[in-house]
Amino acid sequence: MDIREAYLNFFASKGHEIIPSAPLVPNDATLLFTNAGMVPFKSIFTGEVPRPTPPIRTSCQTCIRAGGKHNDLDNVGYTARHHTFFEMLGNFSFGEYFKKDAIAYAWEFVTQVLKLPKDRLYVTVHESDDEAFALWEQHIAKERIYRFGDHDNFWQMGDTGPCGPCSEIFYDQGGEHFNTPEDYMGGDGDRFLEIWNLVFMQYERSSDGKLTPLPKPSIDTGMGLERVTAIMEGKFSNYDSSLFMPLIEEVAKLCGKPYAYESGASYRVISDHIRSVTFLLAQGTTFDKEGRGYVLRRILRRAIRHGYLLGIKEPFMYRLVDKVCEL
Ligand code: SER
Repeated sequence: MDIREAYLNFFASKGHEIIPSAPLVPNDATLLFTNAGMVPFKSIFTGEVPRPTPPIRTSCQTCIRAGGKHNDLDNVGYTARHHTFFEMLGNFSFGEYFKKDAIAYAWEFVTQVLKLPKDRLYVTVHESDDEAFALWEQHIAKERIYRFGDHDNFWQMGDTGPCGPCSEIFYDQGGEHFNTPEDYMGGDGDRFLEIWNLVFMQYERSSDGKLTPLPKPSIDTGMGLERVTAIMEGKFSNYDSSLFMPLIEEVAKLCGKPYAYESGASYRVISDHIRSVTFLLAQGTTFDKEGRGYVLRRILRRAIRHGYLLGIKEPFMYRLVDKVCEL
């Protein structure tokens, strides 16, 4: 299944306009990079720009989380699911529908299009959100609905900007494969994997921390393409999926040593970082000693250092670009 196409077509069938991915460098001084699918729509959420017609949209947005509020750089390569560059599938409502439809659409997509088994699914809501809890109860047993606090179930774009309580969908990868003490719902283990975040956008946070209600309650959802692809392909790491293995195989060719998961962090670092570096350079960001260009330089350096660890002493990153383009 082409997951991007299935997602966009599903939401188009519900009346959403399909919007192409916006550039990685946003037209927004408060952010280093586009770090979520909602970023290009920020000023529609806040009411600065009038609502489009139809006021509902869907996209597959390229994102970078390296530097700034959402910064995954140091984890990348060492976990199954962190990336600097990733794609986020999302549907957005600018005051048109709210929690009820967002939840119903997400459940329909996950169970009827992706056909993920219901006995593998769990959801979370903000501890104060009785409304979302009651709406989820129409789809899933209440034992599978968890309440968490702000740390897990309140999402904000950055220090300022649109924000609100959220509800997340989790996929259980199975206790037979994951049984560390951290493998419980809400724990840091990999067993329960968050696949989709539904944000109930209700506020805008200003620089003094104050929350002001948005003109209309809105919806911003984000589903990680890499995670869902891995689940659909029956893989326990995003890096084992068809989005990354071809890159990892290229790295193995370059260093002349076969890849093994346990000792393979450097292969994964390079296969992740080449995607960020390729997209940023292609979109006009260049190396610098500060700001975005510095983050780009740090990502490139980190990849090259891992190339050294694999014994590659010649310039090599450019040799992976064709594979990124192909993928
Ligand atoms: N903005 C939310 C997130 O990034 C949902 O898209 O998780």
